[in-house]
Amino acid sequence: MQLTAPTASSSATEHAFELVLARSQMRLPVEPGESIADVLQLAGIAIDTLCEQGVCGTCVTRWLAGAPEHRDSCLSAEEQRTHVAVCCARSHGPSLTLDL
Ligand code: FES
Repeated sequence: MQLTAPTASSSATEHAFELVLARSQMRLPVEPGESIADVLQLAGIAIDTLCEQGVCGTCVTRWLAGAPEHRDSCLSAEEQRTHVAVCCARSHGPSLTLDL
């Protein structure tokens, strides 16, 4: 199987947003070009990743508030209402809250 990179906007058009972790009560900045998964791992939050391209579903996490910009190809529209692939997703708004 060949993995393809997400086709969403490049980091040149990305904006920074705040990642809110509801259970950990942490707030972490996500800069353009950074992935949510990278920010979580740097903060010491254990999150498994495999493809890092939105394909495998390994990093799928429940989100609670905000407006995720989904860039995966592994979740259905129904699943995206409650979950997000943190290896490739970003936020449409200024913050995104995860159930972590
Ligand atoms: S690591 Fe594969 S979908 Fe995120």
